[in-house]
Amino acid sequence: MPKPSRAAKKEQDHQRWAAVVLAAGKGTRMQSRLPKVIHQVCGRPLLAHVLSSVRGAGVDRIVVVVPPESQDIRQNINGNTEFAEQGEPHGTGHATLAAMTALNGNGANGKLRPEHILVLAGDAPLLQPQTVRALMERHLAANADVTVLTAVGLPIMGLGRIVRDGKGSVVAIVEERDASGGQFYINEINGGIYCFRASVLWPRLLEVMPSASGELYLTDVVHLTARSSGHVEGMVAEDPWDVYGVNTRQQLAQANTVMRKRLCDYWMAQGVTIMDPATTYLDATVSFGEDTIVHPNTHVRGATRVGRDCELGPGAVIADTAIGDGCHVGGSVLEGATLEDGVEVGPYCHLRPGSILKRGVHLGNYVEVKNSTLEPGVRAGHFSYLGDATIGKDVSIGAGTITCNFDGVNKNRTVIGDEAFIGCDTMLVAPIRVGARSITGAGSVVTRDVPDDTLVVGAPARAIRLITPQPPSTTH
Ligand code: UD1
Ligand code: CA
Repeated sequence: MPKPSRAAKKEQDHQRWAAVVLAAGKGTRMQSRLPKVIHQVCGRPLLAHVLSSVRGAGVDRIVVVVPPESQDIRQNINGNTEFAEQGEPHGTGHATLAAMTALNGNGANGKLRPEHILVLAGDAPLLQPQTVRALMERHLAANADVTVLTAVGLPIMGLGRIVRDGKGSVVAIVEERDASGGQFYINEINGGIYCFRASVLWPRLLEVMPSASGELYLTDVVHLTARSSGHVEGMVAEDPWDVYGVNTRQQLAQANTVMRKRLCDYWMAQGVTIMDPATTYLDATVSFGEDTIVHPNTHVRGATRVGRDCELGPGAVIADTAIGDGCHVGGSVLEGATLEDGVEVGPYCHLRPGSILKRGVHLGNYVEVKNSTLEPGVRAGHFSYLGDATIGKDVSIGAGTITCNFDGVNKNRTVIGDEAFIGCDTMLVAPIRVGARSITGAGSVVTRDVPDDTLVVGAPARAIRLITPQPPSTTH
């Protein structure tokens, strides 16, 4: 019989696994009205980081254990997951049991019963997919009943300690509050991430007795398995931060610091210059092209994509924005904007959602743009508000130009034709249309549409003459 291909074997492997992610705890130590697992690290909920690492490790079937009122958690998860509800949270063992029906029922949901179960805490955002994969491979290679991901080198406060026997085998996990004097000082801690053989997990879980605090500890499955001659493997994480759990706001800040450093290291390895990683705030969801330079105190957030050869900051805050190649963004705030190639913005500009700046647009300082399209070559050098506007190509916007887009009830549009010249301090009272190649005089208040090739002046602006078209100038 021919050997199964690597891909087929991987596929078979996947079908043997399911993951249970525990996300139903009260998160009391966060002192928050929000569930702990939706607090964010580098722009993404804790739980979303865990789920993407599980998927990245090749496990497609995931059951998330959630509390009964869990709309806010469910809304924060994308991708295909199943949910199991844990009523009152009575500990990690109790939470894992909540997933049992989904995974151990008779052909539950028409799906195969998994042979191995990966169980993970939903509060470990620094876990990397390769670490999960390594744990699963170790579990299979050792033919273990339980494989625990452990760490050495993290602050041990509040964590479960790994107890090994004289031969180095893991025999128990002892929670800090239950640890005897000697156990307290063990520096190998439980990462809260495990692989279990399903046929061992479910029966052993049912044997777990309540702890002194009345909780059912998932960690008790370890000594129950070891005691009945099962095989427990311990794998020390290569990077201890992988298992870092977030229980408090301090730990949330620490997790952000570590992930931020990892993200900066990653992008520098991809050819991005980051002047000062310590003051560069990147979300896990952003991307950059090579030879882009990021100056200090810059925040790049959400679904932002930045092209090649750009320069950002110092002091730029950029969210959900698409930036082409060769753009310069000085210290400015950009939200939900689109910049084509070769655009210059700032310093001190504010681009609000729906701002589309086409190729070569130049905005100097103190320009606010909202829900507007600026065609190629538009220049607005100094303090202006451009809202609900369509501005034709090569239009020059003089200092102090305002689109008066709000009449107290409605937002109205301003349309400016190609190559128009808007004089300093022009008020464009929308809805309004300024024709191609027309000119408004300094300080004009434009209340009526201006035809093409017309000069208007005054308040309210009146047409004073038709402009004779000139050949395009070759200098600025
Ligand atoms: C747990 C481990 C500890 C380990 C640490 C690693 C136990 C008993 N202790 O402690 O050994 O060192 O993780 O970070 O397992 N959860 C529920 N329902 C519950 C309780 C918790 O879903 O009833 C969820 C939480 O939402 C959280 C995860 O399980 O995502 C872990 O719970 P948490 O209370 O944070 O456990 P730790 O005290 O950190
Ligand atoms: Ca925890």
